[in-house]
Formats: sequence, C-alpha cells, structure tokens
Amino acid sequence: MQLQTNFLGIHLENPLVLASGILGTTGASLARVAGNGAGAVTSKSVWLKRHAGRPNPTVVNLGKGSLLNAVGLPHGGIEEALVEFESFRRLSQKPLFASIAASNLAEFGETAAAVAELKPDLIELNISCPNVKDEFGKPFACDVKQAAEATSIVKKAIGEIPLAVKLSPNVTNIAEIAKSVEAAGADAITAINTAGPGMAIDIETAQPILANKFGGLSGPAIRPIAVKAVFEIFAAVKIPIIGMGGVTNGRDAIEMLQAGATLIGIGSAAKDGSEVFGKIAAEIAEFCERKKIKNVADIVGLAHKK
Ligand SMILES: Cc1cc2nc3c(=O)[nH]c(=O)nc-3n(C[C@H](O)[C@H](O)[C@H](O)COP(=O)(O)O)c2cc1C
Repeated sequence: MQLQTNFLGIHLENPLVLASGILGTTGASLARVAGNGAGAVTSKSVWLKRHAGRPNPTVVNLGKGSLLNAVGLPHGGIEEALVEFESFRRLSQKPLFASIAASNLAEFGETAAAVAELKPDLIELNISCPNVKDEFGKPFACDVKQAAEATSIVKKAIGEIPLAVKLSPNVTNIAEIAKSVEAAGADAITAINTAGPGMAIDIETAQPILANKFGGLSGPAIRPIAVKAVFEIFAAVKIPIIGMGGVTNGRDAIEMLQAGATLIGIGSAAKDGSEVFGKIAAEIAEFCERKKIKNVADIVGLAHKK
C-alpha cells in the first residue's frame, strides 16, 4: 500500500505535514519532526522584520488535547528564517513549507519575495492571523476581496514556487473565500487556522488566563469545524487542500482525507512530541490495508461520493 503523495509536484513519503507554529521554531526542531515521520514540515510564520509576540501567558491547555493560544506570531525576521532554513536543509532532505505573515498588502509582497529567495518547496500565505491594526478584528482571510488581493500580490512575487493560502474558519462562507483565492492564483488551500477566538477564566482569581484575554482555539475541539470547512472547500475549488484542525490519530486523518484534503496538517497533537507523526502514518496504512486501498490518494474526497 502506498502512502507516498505527490502534492503540486512535491514528493512526500506520507501525507502528514507539521502545521505552522508548533515545534517549528528552529531548523533543528523542524528536522526532528521530519525525522519522526512527517512527510513535510511547515515553518512558523516568517515576518520580514522582527515581530514581537504577545505577553505571557500565551497558551492555555484546555485538556483533552485542545489549546487556546495568543502567541501572536513572534518572529525574528528574514535573517532568522535564512539561518533556520539553512540549518534544516543541512539536517533533512524532506520538503520545507515556508509560512509567511505580514500586516499589510505591500509587506506581504516584500516578505514573499524575500522568502522565495530562500527556496522553500512551497509558500503558505497566512492571511488568517489577526492583523496588527485590530487584534482579532479582521484578518485578510475574512474578506473576499482582501484575501484575493493578498494572494495575487504574493503569487506575483514568488515565481514558480507553489502557493498555498491558509484560511480562517471564522467566516460565514469559507467556500466563497477559497474560490476567490483560487481565482487570484492560489495553487492550494490550507484550512483551517485556529477557531474562535475563545476565552478561559481562572475562577480563583476571576481573571482571564491569557494576558491577551482571547486566543485561537485548536485541537480536537475544532475538528468537526475543520472537517466541514475542508468538505465545503473541496466541493467549491479544483486546487488541492492541506486539511488541518484537531487531527490526533489515524482515524481523524482518514476523516480529513475523505472530506477532501490531499495533505493533513498536525499542530496541537504534536505539542507533546513529534512521534505522533509515525504513529498516525502507521494507523493510516493499517486502515488502507484493512480496506484493501492501494493508494492513500484514493481516499481523497470519498465522502462526496453518493
Ligand atoms: C501555539 C500555536 C501557534 C501557532 N502558530 C501559527 C503560526 O505561526 N502560523 C500559522 O499559520 N498558524 C499557526 N497556528 C495554527 C496551526 O498551524 C493550525 O492551523 C491550528 O492550530 C489547527 O490545527 P491543530 O488543531 O492540529 O493545532 C498555531 C497554533 C498553535 C496552537
């Protein structure tokens, strides 16, 4: 049975990808995840210039694998990305996806051009992060026109490197946003970023736990939302999908494939160790063997067939 996957011409030994922002802080940590069975890894979101995150505490463990985070995309800027990507390349041959973030359209273009020079296998445009003007106000991914504009600016800046655009679940119609970024030149869609935002209160002190008060929800709590988003996007566009949100085991990964994802992102489930990649890959293989499925690609979108 074959777990190997071809994604936009990129060869992966299995369809599992490390999601952006978890365990991907350094080249060495990305390489460790790759060595533990991820088919590809995604860097944390790269900014052109140093970008401060939010004050601590930034993460709440809600239990049962779900998290609330307001890390605020801290990053050292393009020089840091250069060092970490080179370090990863020295340690691993696996595909490296570069996530990029910016606070306005012009900066997206500049960041994309600078990151393209580092020759990642794919660029993932994170338009689903809160933009700087308005903490959780209006990410680009929440507006059809702005999402398309960011996509087309970045597409022009990165030449032949494939472009995935990462969408937010916090919209009324995610399929409509997916269609607009496809029309603007996206080669793939990544869905979903964190949901909410949500909030947790320490009842002893009656204070919000996060310094930022609110944070994005991830892990098993958002899986049904992610599955629905991927299902709807698959029906709306022709480009492939990197599906993520709450995947913690082989069963969840198969569900994401059946909804329409070609690759599956793992974020929160990796926080306790990247061995989870090897475990999930083995569970997908086991399922395929039990069902006599020869190629994992044959599962993609099966839930759409009547
Ligand atoms: C602590 C933390 C940091 C994150 N940082 C980023 C980031 O830098 N860029 C990004 O696009 N997504 C970021 N995300 C979102 C994840 O990549 C992913 O889309 C989301 O968590 C859903 O997947 P999961 O349920 O498997 O974690 C972050 C998530 C968490 C929990």
